[in-house]
Amino acid sequence: MVSLRFLVCCLLFLASSVYATIVSHDGRAITIDGNRRVLLSGSIHYPRSTPEMWPDLIKKGKEGGLDAIETYVFWNAHEPTRRQYDFSGNLDLIRFLKTIQDQKLYGVLRIGPYVCAEWNYGGLPVWLHNMPDMEFRTTNKAFMNEMQNFTTMIVDMVKKNKLFASQGGPIILAQIENEYGNVIGSYGEMGKAYIQWCANMAQSLDVGVPWIMCQQDDAPQPMLNTCNGYYCDNFEPNNANTPKMWTENWTGWYQNWGGKNPHRTTEDVAFSVARFFQRGGTFQNYYMYHGGTNFGRTAGGPYITTSYDYDAPLDEFGNLNQPKYGHLKQLHDILHSMEKTLTYGNVSTIDFGNFVSATIYKTEGGSSCFFGNVNESSDATINFQGETYVVPTWSVSILPDCKTEVYNTAKINTQTSVMVKKPNEAEDEPINLKWSWRPENIDNFLLKGRGESTMRQLFDQKIVSNDQSDYLWYMTTLNLKEEDPVWGKNMYLHINSTAHVLHAFVNGQHVGNYHAENGKFHYVFEQEAKFNPGDNVISLLSITVGLPNYGAFFENVPAGITGPVFIIGKNDDETIVKDLSAHKWSYKTGLSGFENQLFSSESQSKWSGDSVPFNRTMTWYKTTFKAPLGSEPVVVDLLGLGKGTAWINGNNIGRYWPEFLSTEDGCSTECNYRGAYYAEKCQTNCGEPTQRWYHVPRSFLNPKGDNTLVLFEEIGGNPSFVNFQTIGVGGVCANVYEKNVLELSCHGRPISAIKFASFGNPRGKCGSFEKGTCEANKDVVNILSAECVGKEKCSVNVSAEKFGVPECDGATRSLAVEALC
Ligand code: GAL
Repeated sequence: MVSLRFLVCCLLFLASSVYATIVSHDGRAITIDGNRRVLLSGSIHYPRSTPEMWPDLIKKGKEGGLDAIETYVFWNAHEPTRRQYDFSGNLDLIRFLKTIQDQKLYGVLRIGPYVCAEWNYGGLPVWLHNMPDMEFRTTNKAFMNEMQNFTTMIVDMVKKNKLFASQGGPIILAQIENEYGNVIGSYGEMGKAYIQWCANMAQSLDVGVPWIMCQQDDAPQPMLNTCNGYYCDNFEPNNANTPKMWTENWTGWYQNWGGKNPHRTTEDVAFSVARFFQRGGTFQNYYMYHGGTNFGRTAGGPYITTSYDYDAPLDEFGNLNQPKYGHLKQLHDILHSMEKTLTYGNVSTIDFGNFVSATIYKTEGGSSCFFGNVNESSDATINFQGETYVVPTWSVSILPDCKTEVYNTAKINTQTSVMVKKPNEAEDEPINLKWSWRPENIDNFLLKGRGESTMRQLFDQKIVSNDQSDYLWYMTTLNLKEEDPVWGKNMYLHINSTAHVLHAFVNGQHVGNYHAENGKFHYVFEQEAKFNPGDNVISLLSITVGLPNYGAFFENVPAGITGPVFIIGKNDDETIVKDLSAHKWSYKTGLSGFENQLFSSESQSKWSGDSVPFNRTMTWYKTTFKAPLGSEPVVVDLLGLGKGTAWINGNNIGRYWPEFLSTEDGCSTECNYRGAYYAEKCQTNCGEPTQRWYHVPRSFLNPKGDNTLVLFEEIGGNPSFVNFQTIGVGGVCANVYEKNVLELSCHGRPISAIKFASFGNPRGKCGSFEKGTCEANKDVVNILSAECVGKEKCSVNVSAEKFGVPECDGATRSLAVEALC
């Protein structure tokens, strides 16, 4: 008996030590299961896609050369009401982590639970803000209790499922807090005490894997501090024994309503990664690897868009964003091939001046080299061990044997995929979509001003609504006599507001709308209005569009009609102001159509198919449609609509706002990857709707039979242009340097034709390639057609033997191809 128990105990011990994670104590590497590693990781946030999408996204991550998948944990999604939890559907964290495990990848679990992430309120629940004596992210008892409660619950859940590496699971790192170092100064001594408490609390949870704190220079031991940013090669951890880790390499940037579409070039992302590993990096995570969609009301803000595409290697819908995905995959494969030398090698550097350097990692078994040129405007020619090498401006060359350059961050050999949208082949749209409608029932609020509660004060929207809805009515009734001093020839409603969007009504008449421009969310709205002698009902609808997610004390940024609210009467040269702020205000959270679940497929409410109105505020629209054929991702085009929310078969696909155009200035067709990137550097979509297309995950659709689209239109719009489309690869282009391999793929569709091909020094870019001054003597189009047309992918060595010798006077030769899918 005793010996059996002993045996079981040893077996258990063995089982749990199989996957053990240790952070090495020479600051050079993360050691997993005894092996020192170069770790490449990518962020995929589970609620920003659907469980049906997870296996494919994670598999693509693995095929893209990632070792690990990172996610935050989203507290306010899991605990929408205090002590009531939700881990269903796309909130099934455990299922997501197990999908990572199934793919034999590692996991990085950034619990936060403050996460920022362009997520509503940075992931913290609004009920938390409304608890007595509450202060976020400082040594506040109530906050610390709740934070500890949630963090412990998540840790216990993960432990129960044996998902930490210390238990044989995939999770190798956990994170507590998020970028607190960026704001700690605003919290004084309490901030320091708080971060110490975070460290102790996390450590006491005994997860058996290291805890990280990102952007936290003073991270208390044994917390590991890590770097976030576009470049982290200069970063030095605060402890010489901590490996150099980069938790967020921003692959692009997010979008705001009214903003443009930011792009970060592939060359620059690759440059930043190669530079990081050149300079001793060991763990690098792409934020985001797949950005996805802010479904429902999850977008942060104010004014974060529904799409969270991020220009990530996988686009919003999960398609490969080429060439970014492929160029990084090549880099990952090469870095992995050098893993031994990078983690065990002796490091030496040669400085060539002018921001050009070589780094050599040397072991007894061999050496690997990086040549970096951080100069923004000039290529470098260097002499290294008797050979001459050209290192282009703002690039890193990698030579796994220190002799042959196998990769340069600025030389892209991966294809560019041109994504195209195709109309719904299942039916003729928009013609076939028959609309019915219903008004939102607002008469009670407009004419009677009656809500659920009354207070003699103007309150912040968060306090009244607990963030149960975007909508909050503020209503008051004002009795006016013609003798009242404010009674004048011209009368105005004057509102000091922090409502993200405001609709104002007097006696049922719409006085005006307002939405914040240029990030100014504190503004004055003043409109002339008609008042009557006797009772006047003032009804103000305040709408939030994502609560703030970043900054010291972000939780206290006001939202709603915080006042004062005045009536102003003007008579010739006399102006009289009447302050209504301390009036009796009646409040009503939400709209009745939401309460009656008009969006639900089960809703029994009556809709009318007669004279469907256009440009009518506060209107519900409904139609049925057939799911697009095939398996390509589906989007719905909402051009023509104003602002509102859309549901597919009862699933909230997010806020829409196609009426909000971005400004005309600040876009460029050319994007120079040379020089440090910043979010405004390379933008597209000027003067266009910030977001016109909205993702409809396939799993929300019935492939056979009818599907329902419901829209709640707030400002007024025209649904008759609405149509569904699929997104797929329309064509592919590549410009591959000689001695490399051309790989073309139509991502599952056949290559139908070679539209252009030239081997020599072709010019231009995808869609506008031109022959250069030298050309190979064989028929390149023919050769490629024979090898590729009709196939889903093809791969061809780019060489003079294959295509004929172009006389290019020593210039670098390449093969440019444009193929149709
Ligand atoms: C970081 C933050 C992330 C995300 C990112 C911008 O500061 O840690 O959560 O918000 O900025 O996308």
